[in-house]
Amino acid sequence: MKKIIIAVDGYSSTGKSTVAKQLAKVLGYVYVDTGAMYRAVTLFAMQHDLISKDEFDKEKLIENLSAIQLQFQFNAERGFAEMYLNGENVEDKIRTLEVSNYVSQVAAVPEVRKKQVEQQHKLGDEKGIVMDGRDIGTVVFPQAELKLFMTASAQTRAQRRFDELQQKGENVSFEEVLENVKSRDHIDSTRKDSPLVQATDAVVIDNSNMSKEEQFEKILSLAKTAI
Ligand code: C5P
Repeated sequence: MKKIIIAVDGYSSTGKSTVAKQLAKVLGYVYVDTGAMYRAVTLFAMQHDLISKDEFDKEKLIENLSAIQLQFQFNAERGFAEMYLNGENVEDKIRTLEVSNYVSQVAAVPEVRKKQVEQQHKLGDEKGIVMDGRDIGTVVFPQAELKLFMTASAQTRAQRRFDELQQKGENVSFEEVLENVKSRDHIDSTRKDSPLVQATDAVVIDNSNMSKEEQFEKILSLAKTAI
């Protein structure tokens, strides 16, 4: 069977990664979470005091980019590839609200993007891939055979993310999460380099009022048609 590239883009917390993971599993494809890469670079910046509430030392981060090695390693128990930063498993550390609060500033730096996109191109070499992010269908793989653009109301998305963080035991308020979702949407959509925009040939999935099952049926049928 022909192998294709499936690009899943869209706003924060629209369930991109859940759908992309599920799709990759059913199709026997590789799943790549590009948000994890930007999150890991952000964690590195935090660990080296390059970013805080008041300050972001962009130049120093750019100087240090060669010291950041990112790797995905499949975890059979969890059923997906986890993110490693310089050999350390940071899959859980990169999912905190603190990382979410800084990641869009880091992801707006062209030098940071250039390095991640190079690695993303290599991961997509073999096709048979489902990649989720913000610029996959527009910049990373504009030739992708299937492009999905996922959206839902900010309120719905914040509620989902809030529930997720609560389950993990993070002490955050709904307002903080809503603020983060809105602020990331704004920075991601208005940055100069590779802003979050819908590719003209993307299929829009608004899942505000769609069950997970309904949504997956629809996406799987789109994928089967594209293959
Ligand atoms: O997908 P996730 O919400 O984990 O992504 C975290 C952040 O990484 C996004 O808000 C965005 O700033 C950045 N990102 C990006 N380009 C991608 C994937 C993520 O700029 N392809």
